[in-house]
Amino acid sequence: MSFITWEDTMSVNVKEIDDQHKKLISLINELHEWIQAGEKKDILGGVLEELINYTRYHFSVEERRMKQFSYVGYLEHKREHDDFTGQVLLLKEKYDKGTTALSSEVSSFLKDWLTNHILGTDKKYTPFFNSKGII
Ligand code: FEO
Repeated sequence: MSFITWEDTMSVNVKEIDDQHKKLISLINELHEWIQAGEKKDILGGVLEELINYTRYHFSVEERRMKQFSYVGYLEHKREHDDFTGQVLLLKEKYDKGTTALSSEVSSFLKDWLTNHILGTDKKYTPFFNSKGII
């Protein structure tokens, strides 16, 4: 069984964004599996970097949509994205320097953040986006 399993309750009813969330879940699952397998530093670092890059791409897509239609929750939502991005960049910096390890605590943090963000923050824009014809 996967570390994180996509469930229909996680859908934001926007196909492009659901697909991106599924990709993020897949990357966190991959990272978790490599951590569990005790993989080498270059492999873990590579997957973490891919996760960070895709996360930034995904945030930029959501933020562009929110700005495009003057979504009232934009700033608050963006602050959550920025906080998380700052945390994972700091984690990557420490990992590259060898001052922190990638453990199951890290994958649990990523899992909890993503699922809570999708269910608690992303899903708030569903009625707004859908009313603008974004589905
Ligand atoms: Fe899907 Fe706000 O990140």
